[in-house]
Amino acid sequence: MSVAEYFDTMNYAPALEDDKPARQWIAAHGARFGHFIGGSFTTPDQTFATMNPATGEMLAEVAQGSAADIDAAVAAARKAQKGWEAIGPAARTRHLYALARAVQRNARLLAVMETLDNGKPIRESRDIDIPLVARHFYHHAGWAKLRDSEFPGQRPMGVVGQVIPWNFPLLMLAWKVAPALAMGNTVVLKPAEFTPLTAMAFAEIAKATGLPDGVLNIVNGDGATGAALVAHEGIDKLAFTGSTEVGRQIREQTAGSGKSLTLELGGKSPFIVFEDADLDAAVEGVVDSIWFNQGQVCCAGSRILVQEGVADDFLTRLRARMDKLRVGNGLDKTVDMAAIVAPVQLDRIRAMVAEGVADGAVLYQPACDLPGQGCFYPPTLLSGVEPASTVATEEIFGPVVVSTTFRTPGEAVELANHSRYGLAASVWSESVNLALEIAAKLSAGVVWVNGVNMLDAAVGFGGMRESGFGREGGREGCFAYLTPTHWDKAKPRPAAPQPQGTEGGLIAPVDRTAKLFIGGKQVRPDGGYVRPVLTPKGKLIAHVGDGNRKDIRNAVEAAQKAAGWSGTSSHSRAQILYYIAENLSARAGEFATRISEMTGAGAKPAQAEVDAAIDRLFSYGAWADKYEGAVHEPPLRGIALAMNEPLGVVGVICPPEAPLLGFISLVAPLIAMGNRVVAVPSTPHPLSATDFYSVLETSDLPGGVVNIVTGDAETLADTLAAHNDVEALWAFGSAGLAKRAERLSAGNLKRVFTDRGRALDWFDDSVAEGREFLRHACEVKNIWVPYGE
Ligand code: NAI
Repeated sequence: MSVAEYFDTMNYAPALEDDKPARQWIAAHGARFGHFIGGSFTTPDQTFATMNPATGEMLAEVAQGSAADIDAAVAAARKAQKGWEAIGPAARTRHLYALARAVQRNARLLAVMETLDNGKPIRESRDIDIPLVARHFYHHAGWAKLRDSEFPGQRPMGVVGQVIPWNFPLLMLAWKVAPALAMGNTVVLKPAEFTPLTAMAFAEIAKATGLPDGVLNIVNGDGATGAALVAHEGIDKLAFTGSTEVGRQIREQTAGSGKSLTLELGGKSPFIVFEDADLDAAVEGVVDSIWFNQGQVCCAGSRILVQEGVADDFLTRLRARMDKLRVGNGLDKTVDMAAIVAPVQLDRIRAMVAEGVADGAVLYQPACDLPGQGCFYPPTLLSGVEPASTVATEEIFGPVVVSTTFRTPGEAVELANHSRYGLAASVWSESVNLALEIAAKLSAGVVWVNGVNMLDAAVGFGGMRESGFGREGGREGCFAYLTPTHWDKAKPRPAAPQPQGTEGGLIAPVDRTAKLFIGGKQVRPDGGYVRPVLTPKGKLIAHVGDGNRKDIRNAVEAAQKAAGWSGTSSHSRAQILYYIAENLSARAGEFATRISEMTGAGAKPAQAEVDAAIDRLFSYGAWADKYEGAVHEPPLRGIALAMNEPLGVVGVICPPEAPLLGFISLVAPLIAMGNRVVAVPSTPHPLSATDFYSVLETSDLPGGVVNIVTGDAETLADTLAAHNDVEALWAFGSAGLAKRAERLSAGNLKRVFTDRGRALDWFDDSVAEGREFLRHACEVKNIWVPYGE
């Protein structure tokens, strides 16, 4: 075309980024890559091909990692870990800083390689992915230096296994590797099979910057290689980003193994447009949300919820904007959207859109030119979608957005939260009051006000519900690679002593049956069965209800109904905890006698347990209005509010020992942070908890905030672990209990906090009280609020 013709049509000419340096780099390696283990590249044996999805050409062959390769990599990481830890914070800082600098020096090469291998537009790999990679290493270079002062009482986990997806190949590597190394761990990472090349380039960079051998190991391969890493006994922690389906399998596989786990999984994030929103800005938000990286983004705003009064106007503007989007080879600097990562993913998108249309959705795709070859799919809008249809509930992971309308803010929240996921959300309104009120009500780990896809190393990222657990980035992300040192000393819990005989028989002469406590009322157990509570010598003290599944379900329902507690001010929660403490101290003698009677403890230790429980209640009263979030100042005009939010309904399995103190140590931090609890007290010694009802009843605690179901802890734990309305489970008891709790929690991917069968010293404040418990009692929601016009 001539220049004059361009002036007439105002069309863009292609502006291809030069890919020669990247191709030369690949060629210099013979277009064959092994693994990076112990500081050296292995010679590839069995390989698979990695392709350019824009053209279908093969870029390189890459080794398919075997179980033996994983073994070698874990051994190299283990060998390097002590030394990496011993070089200290300052030296680790210098290494991370050097990595950040080297990423910046090689930014162009890395960006082009990412675009070749993944297909994404160079505009994004150059301006978003790679700069954020550098930012992550810079930011975590700082955390490396501050580790000992900012994370006292914590140590690195050791050897960390990491499995990452293909949508942001190098960025996901950075999100995982930077905090792990900063905290003193060594790493075995498996890149996604579609996109291994930038990880190989990064390995070379790491080697060149002098990162000690074995600190970072990379094993290529597919899901089977990932599974071998997950199963390896030599790793202490596993961090996974990918599909919810695989995440759930990993939860089940690692249950009871003692491996710490963080999962960053899928999403179906709402994009909520209120009628007072700046509609043109919101349209641009949709573009940056669902057509960024072809919608292959876990936090993509893939569900538009638009207020009815402006829906037609908004969708008309959106379609007009879609008509202007350009789809083409990612190396072309003028395209808005480029290739889908692989044919299999393209087929999946096509099939899901066809299903949506069959379900009655209205399809809109602009008449844009798609390249003749390669994996391309047009920007797509499905409107008039029923909230229950598959395209409205399942992750499509492609450039497809669905839209539905709502009438009131309340309805918007209901629709937004009507999802098994809870990763991100975007809220569009010119009213800051409305936007922040809605942000607080959304079940999402990240909320963007009048914006989308803002990401920064200082601001934690991660989900709720089936979007996984754990955060990446910021202070909370560092905790994902640390473990408390004071728990190291805890020994395996001895088996609970069995009463010697049943002196006096099991049939009580008079009715002294403690009932269950559900919804603020004492209720009989559903099955009508009771359990004897015996002294160590086997004398019958009383009976308690033998709770069953139905009782747990009733208790969960009551806890759900007590949702108001989560909105109660932290000041009020503190007052109530103090009040509970005071009421317990008024009856301290009675509680001490009960402990002696059940456990055989002498008067002094029994009194000490009651005193410690009172103290602990005061501590959490103190914490209730002090364990606050943070305000981040990421490098953009705006702030991110990191809010410590309650988890919701939490199941608590109390340890068999310390019947009062164990119960209080677990329940108090949870209610202090606004959770509602279904607690199963010590199986052999439940009466301290059942006596406690009357303390709760006289302490202004609303009914349903604390529910107590007595019975066999291990059986009741199974019901709690499998219950979909329970958001988290704290399971303290045997190692077998921890394993079952973790495995059965895979259904709704609830967070599980366990002692892994180790006996904690409940009397030691440094072990059994404070921030460790509070961190597990909340999750951080980051609300991004930009400023300026
Ligand atoms: P995937 O979950 O299978 O793969 C992600 C990573 O896990 C890859 O490195 C893969 O090799 C590895 N992997 C697969 N099976 C494994 C196993 N059993 N044990 C350990 N590692 C294993 O995701 P896939 O198949 O690439 O994409 C399928 C769908 O998953 C997408 O359409 C999308 O909906 C979702 N997805 C979500 C991502 C997110 O960031 N939330 C990222 C990638 C995919």
